[in-house]
Amino acid sequence: MSTAQRKGRLPAERDDHYMRLDGAHIVGTKALLRVKENIRSAIDTKAMICVYGEAGRGKSLAVNTSLRLLAPTITHRIQFRARPSTRDLRHELFYALRLPGTPPERPIEFDRVLRSALARTFRVLVCDEAQWLSKQCFEYLRYLWDDTDTDLAIVFTGGNGCYRVLQNEPMLESRIYAWQEIEPMPTDEVLTVIPAFHPIWEAADPDLITLADTEAAHGNFRAWARITHHMLASMKELRREAVDEELLRWTYSKLKGRSPA
Ligand SMILES: Nc1ncnc2c1ncn2[C@@H]1O[C@H](COP(=O)(O)OP(=O)(O)OP(=O)(O)O)[C@@H](O)[C@H]1O
Ligand SMILES: [Mg+2]
Repeated sequence: MSTAQRKGRLPAERDDHYMRLDGAHIVGTKALLRVKENIRSAIDTKAMICVYGEAGRGKSLAVNTSLRLLAPTITHRIQFRARPSTRDLRHELFYALRLPGTPPERPIEFDRVLRSALARTFRVLVCDEAQWLSKQCFEYLRYLWDDTDTDLAIVFTGGNGCYRVLQNEPMLESRIYAWQEIEPMPTDEVLTVIPAFHPIWEAADPDLITLADTEAAHGNFRAWARITHHMLASMKELRREAVDEELLRWTYSKLKGRSPA
């Protein structure tokens, strides 16, 4: 599938894993199960919801996993790496909705095209990395959602910046149906989740998992995926069959850059 065809679609399960980590499984963390419930009710009620929290805690993976299950064919994703203008946002929507032809030149015409497309059939719009959206962009999405003819649910996913903008604008805040902050996993959850996440941790000593979490991962899923990636490489290089403290300590040395002067 070409990039243009992929635009706006949910990623494949494998692409949701940090650096496509070999052998990794998606685990039903408490956060993921709650995201699924919140998305289910957003779909049922055609609402806007917000899933937020710090980097690497599993927001995008939880939202994508839930939508692959609940609404794979009607989900359209937009995602930003830098601060978009409303013009960029209109274009992103045009491509994510896979509308035919070329994007209209004039904003009025553009709005008409987007609104009529969003009125044709019910869709779920995911705005990932929503901390990049300005107040004007959020307002534009609210305008599309508010339109009595359009038929959509919106899932905003992003860092704490996204939470702040939405909370600071009563027009937006009051329209968000549910808020969910993704917190770091507590140690007792880490001890059940990590052995199910990857075969190298399946038979690992719980003390070793606790040690890695206390010293390096701190309940952050991306940190766990990164450690696992390094551990796998070391095991291959050193021809080891199992994880142990020595390997773990060796892995730490790769995780941190130079200490601040
Ligand atoms: N439930 C899960 N099961 C398995 N792996 C997970 C899970 N949640 C997160 N991960 C791992 O952690 C990585 C980071 O998760 P994700 O990209 O969802 O974080 P994020 O909160 O969206 O971060 P950012 O704010 O930087 O976008 C994933 O790529 C995956 O490797
Ligand atoms: Mg993300």
